[in-house]
Amino acid sequence: MRLLALSGSLRSDSSNTTLLHAFSENAPEGITVKIFEGLGDLPLFSPDKEAETPDSVLRLAAAVEVCDGILISCPEYAHGIPGAFKNALDWLGSRFEIPGKPAMLVHASTRNVYLREHLREVLRTISCRLYPEPEFEVHLIRKDRPEIDAILSTGEMRAAMRMKLEGFERFAAQEG
Ligand SMILES: Cc1cc2nc3c(=O)[nH]c(=O)nc-3n(C[C@H](O)[C@H](O)[C@H](O)COP(=O)(O)O)c2cc1C
Repeated sequence: MRLLALSGSLRSDSSNTTLLHAFSENAPEGITVKIFEGLGDLPLFSPDKEAETPDSVLRLAAAVEVCDGILISCPEYAHGIPGAFKNALDWLGSRFEIPGKPAMLVHASTRNVYLREHLREVLRTISCRLYPEPEFEVHLIRKDRPEIDAILSTGEMRAAMRMKLEGFERFAAQEG
């Protein structure tokens, strides 16, 4: 199974992106997790721009099309989805690649309750097939790099990531 991982943070030292890399590194055999790097390159969405879709959007859409499922880790900004990530979802929402695509949320914070509700609602609205809760969560906020690495590299944590990916693989294989 090929998973596309989308981080909702553009920050260079993002804990959400780090978590997705950990999922990629700990993926069981048969599952690959590829992190999409270009969300920050997308222009601001306007329906006016859809007639000539920008290359950066086509790159994202092509990555969505070929994947078997999407893994998302997104921070909470002002109790909602960060603008850059919502912009990406707005681009995808009016296209054919996203409807029916399995998606699983994982969280680098245990406090992002508003974000979770908001993001699930948006993903359901653009017709993603959401992996049911409970979602994977680990609290990485306000931790430095060595602390984050230590948390994500314990045997227990690696096993928990593997189990979530295996569960998601079974879910994605079911009929939509
Ligand atoms: C503009 C801004 C708004 C934020 N708003 C919230 C918030 O409403 N609730 C919350 O729990 N954290 C909030 N945070 C904290 C971030 O969610 C937290 O720093 C997170 O770790 C950032 O993810 P990253 O490390 O992947 O960039 C906010 C951070 C920023 C920069």
